[in-house]
Amino acid sequence: CPEMAFPSPEREQWSSRLGFVLAAAGSAIGLGNIWRFPFKAGDNGGGAFVLIYLACLLLLCVPYLFAELALGRNSKRNPVGAIRAIRGHSLWSLVGGLCVVTGLAIFSYYAVVAGWAVGYVFRDLTAAGASGAAFAQFIADPLWVVPLFGGFLVATAGVVAQGVRRGIERWAKILMPVLFVLLCLIAFRAVTLPGAGAGLEFYLTPDFSQVSGLMVVEALGQAFFSLSLGMGTMITYGSYLPDDENLVVAGGYVAVFDTLIALMAGLMIFPAVFAMGQNPAEGPSLVFVVLPDVFGAMPLGSFVGTLFFLFLAIAAFTSGISLLEVFVSYLVDETAWSRRTAAWGAGGVAFVIGLPSALSQGAVPALSDLSWLVGDRLLGPAPGVLDVVDFLWGSVALVLSAALLSVFVGWVWDADDALDELRTGDGHAMGRWVGPVWRAAIKYAFPATILTVLVVDLLYGVL
Ligand code: PHE
Repeated sequence: CPEMAFPSPEREQWSSRLGFVLAAAGSAIGLGNIWRFPFKAGDNGGGAFVLIYLACLLLLCVPYLFAELALGRNSKRNPVGAIRAIRGHSLWSLVGGLCVVTGLAIFSYYAVVAGWAVGYVFRDLTAAGASGAAFAQFIADPLWVVPLFGGFLVATAGVVAQGVRRGIERWAKILMPVLFVLLCLIAFRAVTLPGAGAGLEFYLTPDFSQVSGLMVVEALGQAFFSLSLGMGTMITYGSYLPDDENLVVAGGYVAVFDTLIALMAGLMIFPAVFAMGQNPAEGPSLVFVVLPDVFGAMPLGSFVGTLFFLFLAIAAFTSGISLLEVFVSYLVDETAWSRRTAAWGAGGVAFVIGLPSALSQGAVPALSDLSWLVGDRLLGPAPGVLDVVDFLWGSVALVLSAALLSVFVGWVWDADDALDELRTGDGHAMGRWVGPVWRAAIKYAFPATILTVLVVDLLYGVL
């Protein structure tokens, strides 16, 4: 029989709408926007990818974001507790469990890449031309990578240990404005470079001859990762919202900020890449290898480069906080652990499980090339631990739990109850016309599309 939700009276809440919006936007805006979005757009021909990304965001991801927020606010619990509050003890709790574990697993390697960004804040980027080799050497050096990774974990756990208001919300309020100012500065420098126009054209003019099925899959996956969906972040952050908050408006702000920052990240990267005669389709190394060359060749480059990596590190930090918070909220709600113990304990576990990823970029050869374990053909040529965990957790687990969560909200909890939750709160939300559209999206369109993506993703990754 379904259990009633009994939120503990001392459960924290955000102090205001602004606090929630900044914390949730801080979660959404991260490596996904600044590192992943530009290289995906660059690999997929620019403008057309951007348009498809926007369509996926609007038609699928935003409706799903509302579902996660409604589930969290209704139950005032972590993902496992939220599902239990609605369905009691059942196999569905495993979906909540999948979210919580996925969060910790993504955090473990997200912190590795975030550590690289922190390291690049302190590197001299003016030595143009050799940045490919310099990057390879840097990420292979355990004496750099492990302390940076560990330091990032300690900082994140420190904020999460301080609590929702005093930790997460306070830091988001400090860092998000800094992030925005940095972004404006760098974008201004990029678009005023001579020759930037070609980059703007590549980025803003869609070339539809480039569109392919796989590209749609990539765009959807990106929209999804970027909004921090599919692993209970928004359930958890939604659970700290008061009942009079309008979920549609608050969630809408988060989606708008996240999209704005992703679009602006493209605006700072492509003009600079084209102005300096570099290739936009460089894949994951775009930010760490191509950009340092770009910075090395432009006036004020070393200063702008330092600002850029500071920007990247801050964005990764507020996302890392949200990744850790999912696991910590689970421990706080469901065990007798204090928040402090939970945060440091979860951080410690993330360190242990992330260490192989940290050491997989050249430090330990057996971890850099897993072909001895998975064979040559699986996952493309010579995958390392980082590639494998990113694929399994960042693509497969994320998408799988999102599909299952949407079925849970649409069919088990029932879309009408979820809609009632969305309509609770101040002001208008989901009126006569929008409500039924949302209901159809969450019950049918979302699970069907996501399952298709999952199958294509798996086939693509494995074959
Ligand atoms: N949205 C974050 C980014 O864009 C990554 C993230 C995914 C954070 C899932 C939390 C949960 O980098």
